[in-house]
Amino acid sequence: MPVSIKNDVPVQLVLGTQWGDEGKGKIVDILGESADVVARYQGGPNAGHTVKIQDEQYILHLIPSGILRSHTKCVIGNGVVINPQSLMTEIQFLIEKGIDCMDRLFISQNAHLILPYHEKLDKAFETLKGEKSIGTTGRGIGPSYADKVSRIGIRMNDLLDEKLLKEKVDYNVKLKNGFLQHVCHEGGVNGKEILKSLLQFRDQIKERITDTRWMLYKSLQDGKKILLEGAQGTLLDIDLGTYPFVTSSNTTSGGSFPGLGLGFRQLNRVVGVVKAYTTRVGNGPFPTELTGDFGDKIRQVGGEYGATTGRPRRCGWFDAVIGRYAVQVNDLDVLAITKLDVLDALETIQICTGYTYKGKTLETMPTDCDILQKVEPVYESMPGWQQPLNEIKEYGDLPQNTKDYLNRLEELVQKPIGIVSVGPHRSETIFP
Ligand code: GDP
Ligand code: IMO
Ligand code: MG
Repeated sequence: MPVSIKNDVPVQLVLGTQWGDEGKGKIVDILGESADVVARYQGGPNAGHTVKIQDEQYILHLIPSGILRSHTKCVIGNGVVINPQSLMTEIQFLIEKGIDCMDRLFISQNAHLILPYHEKLDKAFETLKGEKSIGTTGRGIGPSYADKVSRIGIRMNDLLDEKLLKEKVDYNVKLKNGFLQHVCHEGGVNGKEILKSLLQFRDQIKERITDTRWMLYKSLQDGKKILLEGAQGTLLDIDLGTYPFVTSSNTTSGGSFPGLGLGFRQLNRVVGVVKAYTTRVGNGPFPTELTGDFGDKIRQVGGEYGATTGRPRRCGWFDAVIGRYAVQVNDLDVLAITKLDVLDALETIQICTGYTYKGKTLETMPTDCDILQKVEPVYESMPGWQQPLNEIKEYGDLPQNTKDYLNRLEELVQKPIGIVSVGPHRSETIFP
């Protein structure tokens, strides 16, 4: 049975349950109405979170989607990787749209930077991998997180000490140029130019750099409500996703603790955003993928093109194996089903209920890509509703076939639905 989500808890997390682009931006915007603070905990400008408000479309990459609610404070946590240029472009975009964001934005002193050599390395690694490439967004995400783990990364706080910053930039440029030039046979980067643009960035942003962990801690003590915004999706998690076809951060609920400095007992509710079908952008296994005309049709009706890179998204049926896996690894409380309207015209809808591998039914999601590549999805069919849903406001007014589809999804993943989205706009949202 669907449940109603009220904004009655201090800390709530919204994250993607599939391979990203589930509609997290829209759900964060909806729940952001009653949040005081909205915080990103991982990822970087590889994310593209879309919010539609009347005729305007906003695509947020680094700044939390909550910024569009004028009463919120927004945090970019220490677990996020920041490209200075992307951040300034996004701030400028918001200011041009009349959204005053500078004073409401708080950036962790410990967030790592993405610098020009990270982007170059990301692209060079992809080229070297050839047919085995991941299909990254090319935004330098992997190399920036690699530097963080190698303990040679440059953090926001480093901007405030020019001498130390120069040392760190020089060290990294020497290292990376050696690799770019001698291994990849590519041109290197110019350390002086990098330092110059970092100092300009520092002058623009230094007032926004702060101890965001402390800020969140104090906000909670003051009784404020905090909404956490996940980026990417469960299956792109570096540890729990379809490795190596993943991103380089922990996208799952656990990532929010080191990514912001919250303790796990402080998280009160986890909302898993589930697209009513499945999409994936980039390479890697996708058991329910529809490769023919049918996949093209869903892509066209759903507007399934990457919000960051514009790449066509691969489309397929809803996969309950993934749904159950996401429930387990994120400890989801409730589901937000999005893009249900994209299925409006279909006569029949398929749901993948399980996988078989070498003739045997699998008990759970295999994360070994070689196995996942070869599993056979088991489908069941449900009749479509063949009528538009986007003007429906009450759960009870949904067509019976739609309710049956939703009930079946709940039954298969064993979690209740708390939000149903039937269009990209705020008004196209149903709370059961
Ligand atoms: P995110 O990365 O999870 O925030 O998702 P994206 O913004 O990359 O992709 C979701 C796309 O679907 C965006 O273009 C949204 O405007 C759109 N969208 C969100 N919810 C709905 C919905 O219920 N119906 C339709 N038709 N579009 C939606
Ligand atoms: P949002 O937050 C969908 C995918 C890339 C690639 C893999 C690794 O909008 O849901 P990366 O550049 O992160 O090293 O690429 O991850 N990817 C996403 N796919 N939505 C995203 O973000 C994604 N961010 C990264 O396509 O397959
Ligand atoms: Mg997206």
